[in-house]
Amino acid sequence: MTNNQFSIENKTYALSGATGALGGSISEYLVRNGAKVILLGRSPEKLDKKVAELDTISDGRAHAYVVDLLNEAQLRKISEKIASEIGQIDGLINLAGGNIPGATLKPDQTIYDLEIDDTKKVVDINLFGTVLPTIVLSELMVEQGFGSIVNISSMAAKQTISRVLGYSMAKAAIDIFTKWMANELASKHGDKIRVNAIAPGFFIGNQNRRLLTNEDGSYTDRGDKIIANTPMGRFGDASELNGMVHYLLSDASSFVTGSVFDVDGGFSSFSGV
Ligand SMILES: NC(=O)c1ccc[n+]([C@@H]2O[C@H](COP(=O)([O-])OP(=O)(O)OC[C@H]3O[C@@H](n4cnc5c(N)ncnc54)[C@H](O)[C@@H]3O)[C@@H](O)[C@H]2O)c1
Repeated sequence: MTNNQFSIENKTYALSGATGALGGSISEYLVRNGAKVILLGRSPEKLDKKVAELDTISDGRAHAYVVDLLNEAQLRKISEKIASEIGQIDGLINLAGGNIPGATLKPDQTIYDLEIDDTKKVVDINLFGTVLPTIVLSELMVEQGFGSIVNISSMAAKQTISRVLGYSMAKAAIDIFTKWMANELASKHGDKIRVNAIAPGFFIGNQNRRLLTNEDGSYTDRGDKIIANTPMGRFGDASELNGMVHYLLSDASSFVTGSVFDVDGGFSSFSGV
């Protein structure tokens, strides 16, 4: 294997959730390694800020489009713009997702306190917020004949993580969607369009900071339990996802599709004993 198989230079990757903790870090990594990025998000202000930040690393490598990921018509317009304004899309990383308070049970609540409408919203963004961009943008990949799609699953997909039922259901569905799309695209549209997922362990970001850490930086009970069940004994750093993202986007993973990769400090392989 030569190093060229790992090259992502001058490739163009679209990212949803690119202004978030993990997406922000990954877009920076991609630009630093010579790729171009297309940031998809809802907030023009946050997108502009992120593009300006990325321009300080390498000018003109970041483009942004405002889009509601749950709106198919908007996604189709963005897809047309990508085709006409940028021309090629080598990959898509679906990072948008997360939780909302009503769909997260408080420690003293039970399943009978769950807000069903908020739970549906969480399922929508974590599942259809990946399904829709994947279906719409993979059509461009089918037309050009290549592309690598990376979905973001979670530790909550394979085993019970208390309090976040909607999130867990949606992320479990992401795993089977990843396998389903991988098989569909490879069998009907060729071996150069691949779909895989990364299941991150626990990385502190904006959406889970208050769940895992107290104001003074010490861990909450939940934070302590996670660390106790993570053989490496720590949370991940966002930069520790870069290697897997890079591998999956590049030709180094050319025979890999339909797989879900844990990047979790050992959490998913540990029995707790
Ligand atoms: N941080 C972790 O420990 C962790 C662990 C496992 C999985 N994940 C997953 O990784 C992804 C990124 O997580 P993060 O920690 O960077 O979270 P984050 O909250 O920092 O970023 C999530 C991004 O998704 C966007 N988003 C949310 N709802 C949206 C909607 N309706 N339309 C468009 N964009 C929307 C937000 O604006 C934000 O930019 C998520 O899918 C999350 O579930 C995170």
